[in-house]
Amino acid sequence: MKSKTEASITIDVPMTRENPDTLRNIVKTGLLASPRTLPSKLFYDERGSTLFEQICELPEYYQTRTEHQLLLTWADEIVALSGAEELVELGSGAATKTRVLLDAMARADQLRYFVPFDVDETIVRRVSEELVQEYPGIQIHGVAGDFLVHLEHIPEGGRRLVVILGGTIGNLPTKAAEEFLTSVNTEMSSGDFFLLGVQLITDPSRLEAAYNDQQGITAKFNKNILRVLRNQLGAQCDAANFDHVARYNPADHRIEMWLRSTQDQTIDIPDLDISVPLKKDEEIRTELSTKYDRPMAEDILNTSGFELVKWYTDPDQLISLALARKP
Ligand code: SAH
Ligand code: AVI
Repeated sequence: MKSKTEASITIDVPMTRENPDTLRNIVKTGLLASPRTLPSKLFYDERGSTLFEQICELPEYYQTRTEHQLLLTWADEIVALSGAEELVELGSGAATKTRVLLDAMARADQLRYFVPFDVDETIVRRVSEELVQEYPGIQIHGVAGDFLVHLEHIPEGGRRLVVILGGTIGNLPTKAAEEFLTSVNTEMSSGDFFLLGVQLITDPSRLEAAYNDQQGITAKFNKNILRVLRNQLGAQCDAANFDHVARYNPADHRIEMWLRSTQDQTIDIPDLDISVPLKKDEEIRTELSTKYDRPMAEDILNTSGFELVKWYTDPDQLISLALARKP
């Protein structure tokens, strides 16, 4: 019988120490490029995270409930295979599905450490407060940071299971996703496990419906990026002057979200010393959401230094959980 320690929370906020020029440069380069783009991590302030939680409940957004069901079926096996006592979640958000893994770790008497890692500090704090109440003796080390930049803030622990759920990996362009997973691999020790949730290529009309919901929540989520741009960089823009657009790009098997200008207008960002002229119907790309198949997922895992251990999928082949290991 292991002795139980007091539950505790530490929160590390490398985000606040990030050089503000990094974000400025990314936004400036993206808005002046063709096509114009914005980085999708900018969706996620407190309001953006809440809107994403609402998306997860939408009838059209099948992704969350399908992955949740897969976790309910396989969590005990995943935890037993990994032998992990530390769970690290990159892009943890509200960590709702994560509780299925934490429950399985607790059942196996393996739950020691949880590291929620997210760019939105408010959600890292909220989740940490919630989980410390729910799991007696758990040590929580939250990181409010950019997982493309701050991975070295993941604390040293015992045997680790690192997870990226929800298909968040699909929000990075393929090359960036490969580089990111290589960095994740570098942070891990030999024998640690990695669980990657991917959204699978499926019927385009089903995919487009998931990003064009009847209630308009995804549209609000998309437009929230302009609010964050205003709050963080002082951009002068009005969400009312844009339409939400989400369409499937079959060549790159990905949903692309755009904001389409409803009129000729200019986004001024004095902080960046730029004025971005937009013609009516001109679009800014705000998100990619790449869909995978098994060979693509195996390929990215192998390229970034992992070996596939198990491939779990639902009967309709909508979502997969790839369990991999660092050799
Ligand atoms: N894992 C949860 C949430 C997915 S939403 C789920 O499966 O439901 C994607 C999450 O990744 C958001 O919480 C967002 O804030 C976070 N995120 C996006 N880009 C990030 C980045 N560059 N660094 C850290 N977190 C990021
Ligand atoms: C977080 N990510 C995996 C979601 C997705 O499906 O690409 C974000 C999202 N965007 C619109 N709806 C959901």
